[in-house]
Amino acid sequence: MKNLEVIGLKKNKKVTDALHQLLADYHIYYANLRGYHWNIKGCGFFSMHAKFEELYDAASEEIDVIAERLLQLDEIPENKIDKLALQAKLTAKGQPEPSEEMIKDVMEDLKYIIAAVRHLVELTDEAGDTVTNDIMMGILPSLEKKVWMINAFRS
Ligand SMILES: [Fe+2]
Repeated sequence: MKNLEVIGLKKNKKVTDALHQLLADYHIYYANLRGYHWNIKGCGFFSMHAKFEELYDAASEEIDVIAERLLQLDEIPENKIDKLALQAKLTAKGQPEPSEEMIKDVMEDLKYIIAAVRHLVELTDEAGDTVTNDIMMGILPSLEKKVWMINAFRS
């Protein structure tokens, strides 16, 4: 018996497509953060090196939650990094660059991911998928808090 039959939800391609897309983009966001963590230089090194690690640790947990929700919805989450990179709309970065550029890039990634998560909040609301909605609503506050903290740091 399929998970959806037991859960009592119908297949909703809009929701699952958006989750697959978010999973791909989150992998780029994660990999970018790893690159910033490794390559940060200058007087902000100690604080930003640690902050980027905190951000990619959070992203890693969010990736796992998204992938496991796809499984619950009878989907197979992609794990092949080449396929994820092809699907992702975010740009892969994280190579040595000025720290201000790194922070600007993180904010751009966050802007994209927040919009994607908010879109999923709407889609899951329409679909009556309260659990995926709750997952997205759980991710959103921590993403928005990161925006505030990063903006406060750089001002
Ligand atoms: Fe490290």
